Amino acid sequence: MILVFGKTGQVATELGRLGGVTLLGRDRADLSDPQTCATAILHARPRAVINAAAYTAVDRAEEEEALATRINAEAPGAMARACAALDIPLVHISTDYVFDGSGDIPRGPEAPTGPLNAYGRSKLAGEQAIRDTHATHAILRTSWVFSAHGANFVKTMLRLGASRDTLSVVADQTGGPTPATAIAQACLTVAGQLAEGKGSPGNPLTRGLNSE
Ligand SMILES: NC(=O)c1ccc[n+]([C@@H]2O[C@H](COP(=O)([O-])OP(=O)(O)OC[C@H]3O[C@@H](n4cnc5c(N)ncnc54)[C@H](OP(=O)(O)O)[C@@H]3O)[C@@H](O)[C@H]2O)c1
Repeated sequence: MILVFGKTGQVATELGRLGGVTLLGRDRADLSDPQTCATAILHARPRAVINAAAYTAVDRAEEEEALATRINAEAPGAMARACAALDIPLVHISTDYVFDGSGDIPRGPEAPTGPLNAYGRSKLAGEQAIRDTHATHAILRTSWVFSAHGANFVKTMLRLGASRDTLSVVADQTGGPTPATAIAQACLTVAGQLAEGKGSPGNPLTRGLNSE
C-alpha cells in the first residue's frame, strides 16, 4: 500500500482515482502537527509515502509564514524521518516558486534557487528538510497545476470566458500548466520504482521528472 498525505486537493484526488493508495485527509493527519504525520506513517507501515498535501495559499502565506513553514517544511521533514526509520521512500511535490522568477527558459534540478515570497521559502525549506534526512526520496517540482477538481487558473479562465466578452489577464508570468493527473501518475511511478529499489536520490529517473 502507498500512503498519501492529502485527500481533497487536486493531486490527491487524482491519486485516489488512480487507485492503490490510502488517502489521509486533514482529519487523520494534520500537517500543522508534524509529529502526527510521522506517527501515521509508523502506524500504517506502507511500502512508500507520497506527500500531496501542502499550504498552497500563496498570498495568505505572507501573513502566516510560520504556519506555512510548519506545514510545508517541518511536516515533510517529519515524514522523511519516519520513512527513513522504516526504510521506505518518500515522494514529495514542490514548486517553481523555489526560484526567483527570472529568465524564460526551463530550470534544471541543480539550478540555483532564490524564492521571492513566504510560500516559496516554505516549500524550499521543505525540500531541504527532506534532503537533511537519510530517507530515500524524490522531489518533483511542478507548476500551474490544473484539474477538473478544485480551484485553478484553467477553470477560472473557462468560467470568466463564459460570462465576459473580454478578459484582462497579467501578461508577465510564464509557467507550464501541468495536469494533476499527470503529476499523480508520475508520483505513483516514482514511488513504485523507489520502493523496488530501482531509483535513488540523484538518479536520472527522478532528475528527469523535474518539470518546472
Ligand atoms: N496548485 C498549483 O498550481 C501548484 C503549483 C506548483 C506546485 N504545487 C504543489 O503541488 C502539490 C499539490 O498541490 P494541489 O494543487 O493538489 O493542492 P491543493 O489543491 O491546494 O490541495 C492542498 C491539499 O493540502 C491539504 N492541506 C492543507 N493544509 C493541510 C493541513 N494542515 N493538514 C492536512 N492537509 C492539509 C488540503 O486539505 P484541506 O482540503 O483539508 O485544506 C488539500 O487536500 C503541493 O505540494 C503544492 O505545493 C501546486
